[in-house]
Amino acid sequence: AGTGKFFVGGNWKCNGTKDSIKQLVSDLNSATLEPDVDLSFSSLTSADVVVGPPFVYIDQVKSSLSDRIEIAAQNSWIGKGGAFTGEISAEQLKDIGCKWVILGHSERRHVIGENDEFIGKKAAYALGQNLGVIACIGELLEEREAGKTFDVYAVSSWDNIVIAYEPVWAIGTGKVASPEQAQEVHVAVRDWLAKNVSPEVASKTRIIYGGSVNAGNSAELAKKEDIDGFLVGGASLKGSDFATIINSVT
Ligand code: G3P
Repeated sequence: AGTGKFFVGGNWKCNGTKDSIKQLVSDLNSATLEPDVDLSFSSLTSADVVVGPPFVYIDQVKSSLSDRIEIAAQNSWIGKGGAFTGEISAEQLKDIGCKWVILGHSERRHVIGENDEFIGKKAAYALGQNLGVIACIGELLEEREAGKTFDVYAVSSWDNIVIAYEPVWAIGTGKVASPEQAQEVHVAVRDWLAKNVSPEVASKTRIIYGGSVNAGNSAELAKKEDIDGFLVGGASLKGSDFATIINSVT
């Protein structure tokens, strides 16, 4: 960890029921997050923490979860709402108290079939609505096509973006990238930002890692200079494991 405040997101994906989420929220509320300070002084805490419930549970989570943890949606529409059956707009997300949205996730790209243009429009629109964007990038970086990968996020301001590097082979497989592998890609991303956006954006943008992060491997990953946090899937469904991952900030 090196750049800015450590950032940990829990991506709950399409998991949970009212009951299981009630339990998860209660576990998160009673977890000790480092440093152990009064929650009213949350600016003193050392990690930004967000969770991304399925849309239908956002309200339940928002009204029961400690303010220490922000809410991220798992998707948003490309523009203003209206006649778009099944979609949720950025305005609606803000209305129910979401601060963040996860966009460009590998599952949206490869299972649902979203393309770069579509994801780029969503990112631009969400940022325009002052939502923070957790912008996912994936396997293309391993092919060292960083420029192509980032074209998707051709946005005017990087202030509210956190980049999540998630190698496809590591998502939900139990095969975590080694700290060295992840660090190498994160450095490549930062170099790309320095050359193509600005050195300032490169130094302040948080680049987080996702893919089989768990309570047992997060501390080693977090030691790497350019790993500024995590986007966690499976392990974020267990409150105590997620708390351990948050507390791996170094
Ligand atoms: O967005 C997080 C994710 O794709 C990683 O999932 O289950 O491998 O932690 P998981």
